[in-house]
Amino acid sequence: MNGIETILSRKSVREFSDREISKADIKTILTAGMSGPTAVNMRPFEFIVTQKTSILKKISEANGPYSAPLMKAKLGILVCGDTDKGYLGKEGYWQIDCAIAAQNMILAANALGIGSVWLGTYPEKAKYSALQKLFSLKSNVIPFATLAFGYPLDNTSEIRDLYEVEKVHTDKW
Ligand SMILES: Cc1cc2nc3c(=O)[nH]c(=O)nc-3n(C[C@H](O)[C@H](O)[C@H](O)COP(=O)(O)O)c2cc1C
Repeated sequence: MNGIETILSRKSVREFSDREISKADIKTILTAGMSGPTAVNMRPFEFIVTQKTSILKKISEANGPYSAPLMKAKLGILVCGDTDKGYLGKEGYWQIDCAIAAQNMILAANALGIGSVWLGTYPEKAKYSALQKLFSLKSNVIPFATLAFGYPLDNTSEIRDLYEVEKVHTDKW
């Protein structure tokens, strides 16, 4: 799969097979997460990684009902931001850095044939506070995105064309 195919064939996957994800693939996914740009190269992201069913279940419960896909996932990655490392402590930058890390991991997984879904955490305080409590995180470490990974039950893959000409404003709005 080339880079453009990896991007255009990505879709949210919420049902996973029993096949385990290898440690090598997990490292590749995390490396992709740590390879995005960050404001002033501050790299404020941290990753809580688990393959344990019991912990996946606890994360799913803490992150709320829309996080059910984690219950059957083979890998969960919680992308956290360290606000002490955000660009000059300015609000907004660490979140952008974490979002790029999350999307990079989703795309890397897709290139490996591994499906994933982003389960929203930040900016919902009830969700990120529950996850902070679950993992006894310091107040400066904020759970940002909860990602569920696994091999898709449905193996069909297609290149989607989501281009909308109305969204493109050439030279002026
Ligand atoms: C910030 C964010 C939060 C999301 N939260 C959830 C969620 O809680 N549960 C879920 O099943 N999907 C969630 N999604 C996935 C979206 O529903 C999905 O990306 C969207 O419907 C488009 O479908 P696609 O990813 O297959 O293109 C989230 C996606 C983003 C970017």
